[in-house]
Amino acid sequence: MKAKQSGERKSRGVPGRRVLRYPGQGRECEQGRLNRIRPIFSWTLLCLALFCLFFVEGCRLDMHVEPRYDPLSASTLFPDGRSERPMVPGTVARGHLRTDELLYTGRINGQLANVFPFPITKADLERGRQRYDIYCTPCHDYAGTGDGMIVRRGFPAPPSYHIARLVNAPVGHFFDVMTNGYGTMYSYADRVSVKDRWRIAAYIRALQLSQNATLSEVPQNERLKLLMEKGK
Ligand code: HEC
Repeated sequence: MKAKQSGERKSRGVPGRRVLRYPGQGRECEQGRLNRIRPIFSWTLLCLALFCLFFVEGCRLDMHVEPRYDPLSASTLFPDGRSERPMVPGTVARGHLRTDELLYTGRINGQLANVFPFPITKADLERGRQRYDIYCTPCHDYAGTGDGMIVRRGFPAPPSYHIARLVNAPVGHFFDVMTNGYGTMYSYADRVSVKDRWRIAAYIRALQLSQNATLSEVPQNERLKLLMEKGK
């Protein structure tokens, strides 16, 4: 019993693990030896892993430096000396196919058109007024006479929409002016969508009518209101 007690003791640092000693031998068993060589084994493994990692990294380098052109760099391969290839003629970016001449240019067979590419509803006119108020009134003012805030502060004055030339101008002209700019006025193509430009053109037509209409053009039920206003 005594021998057994001295042969069993707890190993240092590892709670619960027992190291057996045979009485009189004074030697550790297999488990004890393993405990001593395990750290050496782990270190070797770690070094091996790092070593492998280093070489694997080294292999990837080849992929990083594979032959390629930087943007806009020169090339001796192509006759024009450029590394990037020009677009194949007729290439159209996705969503940029513009076959509808009237919708996108305001023209029919190259001539400014006097028709709208889609039916104009009251909602379109209202949207046109809202867009006009945002983008055009700073110069053209709310009535379209060309006396907007910016003009009052020195910007070149635009012509009034109510001069005969613009009253008689085809609606495509207004679309064209917004799309491509006109003289001092810059283009609104990047700020106002294609359809909204048509809606603004429709609203300018309404503005022109508002300043040049005769009583016969006013709907019957509205005429009475006008006459009452006049009588005040
Ligand atoms: C920053 C001021 C400014 C704003 C904003 C502006 N315009 Fe103009 N617009 C001008 C000036 C200036 C002219 C006269 C250009 C010229 O004759 O050189 C002009 C001219 C025009 C003409 C007449 C072209 C002609 O045939 O004489 C139309 C139509 C027109 N603008 C529409 C618009 C519409 C629609 C908007 C809003 C989307 C707008 N403009 C916004 C300054 C402006």
